[in-house]
Amino acid sequence: MLPPSLTLVGAGKMGGAMLAGWLRAGLDPARTIVIDPLPSAEAGALCGAHGVALNPSAPAISDVLVVAVKPQGLSEAVPALVPLIGPNTLVISILAGKTIADLSARLSAPAIVRAMPNLPASVGRGATGAVASAAVSSRQREQADALLACVGLVEWLDEEALIDALTAVSGSGPAYVFHLVEALADAGRAAGLPREMADRLSRATVAGAGALLDADPREAAQLRKDVTSPGGTTAEALGVLMREDGLASLMREAVAAAKRRAGELSD
Ligand SMILES: NC(=O)c1ccc[n+]([C@@H]2O[C@H](COP(=O)([O-])OP(=O)(O)OC[C@H]3O[C@@H](n4cnc5c(N)ncnc54)[C@H](OP(=O)(O)O)[C@@H]3O)[C@@H](O)[C@H]2O)c1
Repeated sequence: MLPPSLTLVGAGKMGGAMLAGWLRAGLDPARTIVIDPLPSAEAGALCGAHGVALNPSAPAISDVLVVAVKPQGLSEAVPALVPLIGPNTLVISILAGKTIADLSARLSAPAIVRAMPNLPASVGRGATGAVASAAVSSRQREQADALLACVGLVEWLDEEALIDALTAVSGSGPAYVFHLVEALADAGRAAGLPREMADRLSRATVAGAGALLDADPREAAQLRKDVTSPGGTTAEALGVLMREDGLASLMREAVAAAKRRAGELSD
């Protein structure tokens, strides 16, 4: 259930990607407003193609206000945001590290959804965590869910504190996977493959495995077992990766470090 009207403040990488997803999903462009003082060419073209009002002189109050400026740009944006919030406006913030209490106090808005999308949202394949303040109605929550689902998976958290753990898994996770591609390519070169071929093979392997995970509902552990013949080459490699101080242990340490940092960066 998309909201009848929406205002997006900040049409950068993430805001622009979400806007594209919403318009694809049928958000009414005539009741959509975008505010961004220096919109990118892509954001300008998207608004132009759909007839979305870009930086109107007197923007109306919308059902949903999505805040997608950089966290460090929030203070500067607040004076322009407050007049866009009515008594029934739901504010959705995707600002990393900005808590519901902080947003609610600065914007004088009780109904807040704090969301943490990730980079693959830009290709409609994101994984977003969301948490709602007590004042968010079930209808508003449905609207937030519908909006966030336009760019991928949505997981709702009951406790805001869990957003740091979620950030450490799905928020930062795409970078871990990109690093896996680098590491596999590097290992391929060390094993004798030409550099560019190793890069291409590693990239295609990770992207292909990701696509397979998406297409096949079986658990990752089962897919792994299915490609691991006893005594074969994969089993030999997994014996290294799955030893006590192997990938799982390293990943736990990495996620704990990211979670700790997310807590430090939160207001
Ligand atoms: N990118 C990600 O993967 C990702 C993932 C999770 C969460 N987020 C969150 O998403 C938010 C946006 O990140 P991003 O990567 O999309 O950044 P971005 O590309 O820099 O987008 C921010 C946009 O907001 C505009 N802006 C700045 N001040 C504004 C104001 N006062 N009013 C209206 N618009 C304003 C910026 O314009 P200028 O360029 O002219 O300053 C820019 O177009 C951040 O808070 C970040 O924590 C991003």
